[in-house]
Amino acid sequence: MLELDAVEVLAGERRILGPVSFGLPAGGLVAIVGPNGAGKSTLLKVLAGETPPMGGEVRFQGEDMAAFSASRLARRRAVLSQSLEVAFPFTVFEVVSLGFDGAPRALTAGQKAARIEAMLERVDLAGFGSRNVQTLSGGERQRAHLARVLCQIGEAVDEEGPKLLLLDEPVSSLDIRHQVDTLRMARDFAREGGLVVVVLHDLNLAASFADRMILMRNGRIAEDCDPAALLNGQTVDEVFAIAMTRIDRGPGRPPVVMPHAV
Ligand SMILES: Nc1ncnc2c1ncn2[C@@H]1O[C@H](COP(=O)(O)OP(=O)(O)OP(=O)(O)O)[C@@H](O)[C@H]1O
Ligand SMILES: [Mg+2]
Repeated sequence: MLELDAVEVLAGERRILGPVSFGLPAGGLVAIVGPNGAGKSTLLKVLAGETPPMGGEVRFQGEDMAAFSASRLARRRAVLSQSLEVAFPFTVFEVVSLGFDGAPRALTAGQKAARIEAMLERVDLAGFGSRNVQTLSGGERQRAHLARVLCQIGEAVDEEGPKLLLLDEPVSSLDIRHQVDTLRMARDFAREGGLVVVVLHDLNLAASFADRMILMRNGRIAEDCDPAALLNGQTVDEVFAIAMTRIDRGPGRPPVVMPHAV
């Protein structure tokens, strides 16, 4: 569904991504992990079509992504960014409704309002619609933006094919139950036939939900494999420069990893 061919991004003289080449089929949840500055957000912006690669090509369902119009992109993929500041005192309802502005669909105002309310309930923000988004807690704000992104993307598959959901550290401010709830929603989207790419720092949470994990280091891919293989191998210790203790959970299941107590 998504293919990267020798993709590179430069910041001035410095190559901050690539060259990277890989393919991602629809119907999966792929977790991207790696240290701060490894290029995870840069890669996600390339997958979103927000940052055009300076070398190589990204193909979305066989077509060069650079040729997609903004409105077509908005219908085919949605992105939850790592930074979620809102410069204006929008209400939560207004923030979520921005999702519909990005990807216009033939819905009446009443239908949109009903979907927004249903989505707020889904992210556990029922009754928050009239609140000023700037007054929300960090985790509440993150879930309000998740609702916006889910309203934008709609169903995982439509008549034009599977859609792409890109989430950059979507659980960084969430308590443990909302972390699990959020990744369950992401996994449901993948099970329904869409493609989800999610950046996460929690290796164990990533391994619990992902079908595949991509470990990045210095703008390149250090490992690309299933979660059990990734967490059992030594590359994670090398890439994060910290020795991990592994708690085995039986065959076929990824171990739990923890940094050695200091
Ligand atoms: N516009 C830019 N100009 C200069 N350097 C940049 C620019 N954008 C990103 N970088 C650098 O590229 C590297 C990769 O950044 P990126 O945001 O992709 O990292 P990340 O893996 O998402 O890290 P984090 O875990 O901290 O979010 C970093 O070293 C960053 O400082
Ligand atoms: Mg980042």
